[in-house]
This record gives sequence, C-alpha cells and structure tokens, in this order.
Amino acid sequence: MMKDLLSIAPLSGEDFDNILARAGELKAKQKRGERHTPLAGKTLAMIFEKSSTRTRVSFEVGMFQLGGHALFLSPSDTQIGRGEEIRDTARVLSRYVDGIMVRTFAQEIVEELAKCASIPVINGLTDRHHPCQVLADLFTVREKLGKLKGLKLVYIGDGNNMANSLIEGAVKAGMGITLACPEGYEPDGGVLGAAKREAGDRVQVVRDPIEAAKGADVLYTDVWASMGQEKEKAEREKAFAGYQINAAVLKAAKPGALVMHCLPAHRGEEITDEVMEGENSVVFDEAENRLHVQKAILEMLIKH
Ligand code: CP
Ligand code: NVA
Repeated sequence: MMKDLLSIAPLSGEDFDNILARAGELKAKQKRGERHTPLAGKTLAMIFEKSSTRTRVSFEVGMFQLGGHALFLSPSDTQIGRGEEIRDTARVLSRYVDGIMVRTFAQEIVEELAKCASIPVINGLTDRHHPCQVLADLFTVREKLGKLKGLKLVYIGDGNNMANSLIEGAVKAGMGITLACPEGYEPDGGVLGAAKREAGDRVQVVRDPIEAAKGADVLYTDVWASMGQEKEKAEREKAFAGYQINAAVLKAAKPGALVMHCLPAHRGEEITDEVMEGENSVVFDEAENRLHVQKAILEMLIKH
C-alpha cells in the first residue's frame, strides 16, 4: 500500500478501488449515525499556504469523526513562513504527528516533504495536482451513474491542477477524457504525455467546448484564474471567454449528464448560474463527498 498521496498516477489500481469502496462504506456508516474512531489518539498536521474552505473543513472534520485530531498550520504563524527548510519541517513534524496534509504552490515542495517525512503526506492541492478532489469527483460519478469505466468526462477551461488530476483519474478509472482548453492553457505536458501513452485516444485536448461536450456523461469546469494567478485575471478573462458550461454546452452532452465543479465557482465566468443551480448539477454532493473520501484516505494511510 502507498505511503503518501501526492498525485493519482502512482496509485495502484487496488489502492484506487479500495479508497472509493471504503469511502462508500464510511459514508453509509455516517448516515446511519454509527461512530467509527480508528484514529483515536492520532494527529494530522494541515499546512495551508493557500486559502481553503472545503479541504480544510473536510480534513479537520474527517479527522475528528475518525477519533483523531487535526492541527491547522499557516505559514504566517509557523516558522515555515520565515523560511525554515521543508526537510527540517518534515523531520520535526514526523516526531509529533501521524500524518501531514499540505496545500502549497510547487508540486516539488510536497514531494520533498514526503521524501523527508517518515509519516504519510497528503497533497491537498498544488499548482500541478489536486488528487483528493478528483478521488471525491470519481466517487461522486460512480455514486450517481453506477460506473466509471467507458464514461466520457469533458473538462472545459484551464489546463490547471484540476485538469491534470482529472486526466490521471480518468485514465486510472478507464474513462475517456476530452479537454477543451484555449491555446496556451493546455494541461501539463508531462501529465498529458504519460496519459496518452497509457490510454491513447481516450485522452484528447481540443479547442471547441461544444465539440468537446458531444456525448459527454460528465461536464466539469474550474475557475479561469487559480490561486496564485490573481495578477493574470484580466488576461485570462479574455483568453477564456466562451470556455463556459452553459445551456448550449449542456445541450450537446448526453441527456442526464452530470455537471461538476470542484468549487469555489465564479458564476457567469466558467459556469452559468442557471446550469450550476440546474437539475444536472451535482456540485454540492461532490463537495460533501470530499469528507467521505478523505476519511477513507486517512484511514488507509495513517497507521492505527
Ligand atoms: N475544492 C476545493 O479544494 O475547495 P477549497 O479551496 O475550499 O479547499
Ligand atoms: N484550480 C483552483 C482549484 C481550487 C480548488 C485553484 O488552484 O485555485
């Protein structure tokens, strides 16, 4: 079994299946009001170098529900913000806590943390990946449509962290993925290359959102400007005009297609209010499922 969760591609098929299956069991337990506290006495350190609502709350609540405790660490209140080296932070935290969740900028920071820590490290979003979100997304698709294999997922917008992790997740799940991205905003070349080598035509990048949406089982989008790209906002608004999930895009998809968004959303930009509030939208179930899937990840990774 894996030590860390840094991105989806390195997950074995067995770990991937186990996380989704266990998340379903943990969700059912919680709905029945059953207490389940295998992580009693365990602590998760949560390092946030970027803002968060869902990731922070779902990890903190998840640890609490599993009987453990979560510590919120912000760079401004710790020595991380004053430049203490990652490798030192990793070794110190490994002596106090049982796992680290980190949200930061470069993927390399998470990788170094994992290399130097003797405890599990979980990527809670970097500029390149958002694996916990995508595991929750795929859990949601399977919950709603009953399967993953053979479905067509269409992502419209920026080739960002979400796009990269969705590519890896779709390949792992045996789905097809088509991304409609403007020129210059394609997904990471390494992620895309590896996915194409493994899955061939199941992975495609096109320009036209309507063309991409044809026959989609799932439509997915994310913000035009991610955290850390605030200065590019105006330039991105121009580049992404038309890269929106709206009624016309939804019409091109299969009837009953799911509309998904990792949130937070900017209604009127990457998604219309009408579609986000419409009957195809599963965005709030998707957000809820972050909690259940993360509990499965924590239970699997933290020794108990
Ligand atoms: N989707 C997601 O990761 O949300 P937060 O930024 O609120 O954690
Ligand atoms: N792409 C977005 C995802 C937020 C959950 C960002 O990185 O800001």
